[in-house]
Amino acid sequence: HSIEPDPAKQAAARAAVSMVQDGMRLGLGTGSTANIMVRELAQRIRAEGLSLRCAATSDATAALAESLGIRIEKLDEIGWLDLTIDGADEIDPDLHLIKGGGGAHLREKIVAAASDRMVVIADPGKIVDQLGAFPLPVEVLQFGFETTHRLIRRALDKQDMAEVEVLHRLKGSDPWVTDEGNWILDLHLGAIEDPLTLARSLSAIPGVVEHGLFLGMCCKAIIGKPDGTVVELD
Ligand code: A5P
Repeated sequence: HSIEPDPAKQAAARAAVSMVQDGMRLGLGTGSTANIMVRELAQRIRAEGLSLRCAATSDATAALAESLGIRIEKLDEIGWLDLTIDGADEIDPDLHLIKGGGGAHLREKIVAAASDRMVVIADPGKIVDQLGAFPLPVEVLQFGFETTHRLIRRALDKQDMAEVEVLHRLKGSDPWVTDEGNWILDLHLGAIEDPLTLARSLSAIPGVVEHGLFLGMCCKAIIGKPDGTVVELD
């Protein structure tokens, strides 16, 4: 069955795909907006015979892309990327992001870091004045999971965030497992006053593989509107 894609996401995806040029090395994001982008990209490749090299940010995106005839290579086979197009869960006025609602932020961050440009595509609901209403995903190794959980708790307490709930992400009654075989804690922060300090403190904890704060990585956000127009923020 095919459901009509969200027109706002569709508009953002199409505008981002129009930035793609023949010969480019691309990073393909994860999530519902990125999925629409992958479909748009497949159409352009078919229509224009574009020759591209593509790396995916998740197994799900790789599977979708390959099902549409887009060949996916390992990031390390390509080496460096010209452009990554990905979605986001929150975008603030400085283009700092929360990502990882789909649990893919580890590979997404590695791919974004390997790209000259990271462009984010989203609907207007993702724009916020301050990050943090969306729970911040933190990917954690299974080894010592409870210890890492306690260390995150302690780091939050030290930053006057003792009330913050830290929840183990589940799929049914089992832990949600990432593509890299890790688990996820979702930090219900409400508002993040100082994203950089929080990011540093999380990254300093052994057992934390990666958190979903993307600070200074995104160079452009393309926000689609329900009427099919887009607004670009850079
Ligand atoms: C995946 O882990 C996330 O970082 C996604 O990019 C994010 O959740 C956006 O997804 P949607 O486009 O489905 O909102």
